[in-house]
Amino acid sequence: MNKPNDPVRAIDPDDIDCNDSPNEHFNTVLNARLSRRSLLRGGMASAATAIFGAVGLSACSSDDSPGPVTPTPTPPPVPAEKLLAFAAVPKSLADMVTVPAGYTASVIYALGDPLNGTTPAYKNDGTDDNFDTRAGDHHDGMEFYGLSATGSASTSSSERGLLAVNHEATTDAKLSSFFLHANGGATTLPRPAAEVDKEIAIHGVSVVEVKKTGTAWAYVRESSFNRRLTPLSDIELSGPARGNALLTTKYSPTATKTRGTLNNCGTGKSPWGSFLTGEENWAGYFTRGAADDAARGNDKSVTSLKRYGRAQGAASRHGWESAGSDDKYARWDISRKGASLDGSDDYRNDINGMGYIVEMDPYDKSKSAKKRTALGRYAHESAAFGNPVAGQPLAVYMGDDSRNEYIYKFVSSAVWAAADASAPDRVAMGDKYLDSGKLYVARMNPDGSGQWIELNISNAAIAGNSVYKFADQADVLVNARLAADAVGATKMDRPEWCSVNPANGEIYYSLTNNSNRAVDPTSSQLVPDGPNPRAYTDMKGSSAQSGNPNGHLLRMKEGAGATAATSFTWDVYLFGAEAGASGGFVNLSSLTADQDFSSPDGLAFSPYTGICWIQTDDGAYTDVTNCMMLAAIPGTVGDGAKVTLNHPKANGGTLAVDTYVGKKPTADTLKRFLVGPAGCEITGLCETPDGKSMFINIQHPGETTAQANLGDPSKYTSQWPSNAGYGAGKRPRSATIVITKNDGGRIGT
Ligand code: FEO
Ligand code: CA
Ligand code: CA
Repeated sequence: MNKPNDPVRAIDPDDIDCNDSPNEHFNTVLNARLSRRSLLRGGMASAATAIFGAVGLSACSSDDSPGPVTPTPTPPPVPAEKLLAFAAVPKSLADMVTVPAGYTASVIYALGDPLNGTTPAYKNDGTDDNFDTRAGDHHDGMEFYGLSATGSASTSSSERGLLAVNHEATTDAKLSSFFLHANGGATTLPRPAAEVDKEIAIHGVSVVEVKKTGTAWAYVRESSFNRRLTPLSDIELSGPARGNALLTTKYSPTATKTRGTLNNCGTGKSPWGSFLTGEENWAGYFTRGAADDAARGNDKSVTSLKRYGRAQGAASRHGWESAGSDDKYARWDISRKGASLDGSDDYRNDINGMGYIVEMDPYDKSKSAKKRTALGRYAHESAAFGNPVAGQPLAVYMGDDSRNEYIYKFVSSAVWAAADASAPDRVAMGDKYLDSGKLYVARMNPDGSGQWIELNISNAAIAGNSVYKFADQADVLVNARLAADAVGATKMDRPEWCSVNPANGEIYYSLTNNSNRAVDPTSSQLVPDGPNPRAYTDMKGSSAQSGNPNGHLLRMKEGAGATAATSFTWDVYLFGAEAGASGGFVNLSSLTADQDFSSPDGLAFSPYTGICWIQTDDGAYTDVTNCMMLAAIPGTVGDGAKVTLNHPKANGGTLAVDTYVGKKPTADTLKRFLVGPAGCEITGLCETPDGKSMFINIQHPGETTAQANLGDPSKYTSQWPSNAGYGAGKRPRSATIVITKNDGGRIGT
């Protein structure tokens, strides 16, 4: 959900800015002219590139980056076939999935598909119900979990497995998710309960079995593994905030559980084989009364609510709170209504139960999912583990996707024991590694270095903070944004997914775009800085888009201590841009027509081929092309050069910004692999262990359709996937596709 400049789109829950903290702008630091040093670390770049290029994937060592211990059995040796040997796919506005010659893409699992034998087939005409036993909407992040022929967990099976799929949101115009309702649904309050019940149930997560027969994949409708999590599922709170007063609700007076998971976006796969799902834009689903600040006695909860985007009077995205007096509706109104001091008689604290990384065992639906509060509460995207090393702590890298938010890292207290990779109780492994540790936030320096700053109540800047008085460490985690403000974290251009290069442990982040950066800023805007160095105007037809409309990919290399390091170096791996962009500081990576992209979002290194897959969720270049996926073979942090960007200022002067631009891609190291149907974003990526079947998600095709056009399919902006021969009706549906190579080879070769 990322259409920052699309006038058709009524709501853009991803593109949010709640950070008015007075953190020092990076540019102020820049002017301090700190000493600069080369990012090249003797020989590291060429060594890693050589190993990476030779075998596609292998563990490699460097002096300060110990070789990873592969958590699952090493895939069998594979031929050193040439990576990125396919012909680049051209940009396209066609309402279809386009893949390179020699590849096939097939739809296997779409919104509404039944997950048992009794729920009826999806009619796709707005009359369907029972969505808690169907595929949810807006398929997003996704992971693959192999199954042996006998149905046990397998890290080597490439013929049968489970897909754990996030269902982030739903296509809406004004309040209503109109494709779900026969007549489009109510666009005014109150919302009918029957409509709201459907809309709630299409959010969350699904686990669905998929199986290959011959060369064809299909989902298994009656598999006993199939499972849904929705915003109504009972989910345990775990870690330091469990039992904390901030999480007391009428639903859980002991603050030990919360109802459901919401707005599940990026994912992660733990070294012990559990599924991690990030809760992203949950805040917009809650409403607050216009006089709630006073009702709360203007206590510190008001500061917290504003920092997370819920000022008093804020309306909810769908109006679910209006559907009735039942708690499942009432909980979306977080106004203080009860007389209790602790919140046990209302839902004033319900919002504090959202915003976490949630862990579940995809193989065992008898086990409750758990919210891992130690990883902090914000608008979570993916959760990427650093390469595990026996005897060392684990690191989990994460981002907070709103404008000017931060990059985070969690470091476990427990050190990695390789035997835990095959432990039968995966949730217990999560208790071991994800409930105790240190949460850090990134501060980036203009010389290409940076620090991880621990968010700990013992830090004087946090303990003595004047904006918000933290009570304890649980409060620091629940209000991680405020704690990060207090320690001067670096505001970024919307951190989306991150992924760790399996070859060398370097961490890549998508910074999707930021309309709030300007060379001549208003009070709410930031000036460009080293890690977010661009602010320019891009034209979409006749409309001007300003800030950093095309986004970039930042990467980081840990310093001494590897996953537990408290320092790092950074550079910008790639800048999104139109190939034909004018101006010397837009197309800084010199992208060609076979490579140009805008608004990177999904990001995943293949553990099997080592290819870095980049997916877009764009609104800036969509006059020229639908969203896409590219394949890349990146180098290493510091393989490029320092560049000074002299931004022209309105007063005739210039704003000089130093940045570090990664080595420019060639036709052999970056290539467009796929273009999706109209109006979609491309997201989610996982593969079978043989690297020969890749699953990705097509989210919200046709989302720019006007609700008034619901009765005329010819006016839908997409009819995918029905136009690809999948399913009934013509209403567009989010769906999972599988990509295979016709010669049986690995994907991306
Ligand atoms: Fe759900 Fe920030 O993408
Ligand atoms: Ca443009
Ligand atoms: Ca995303």
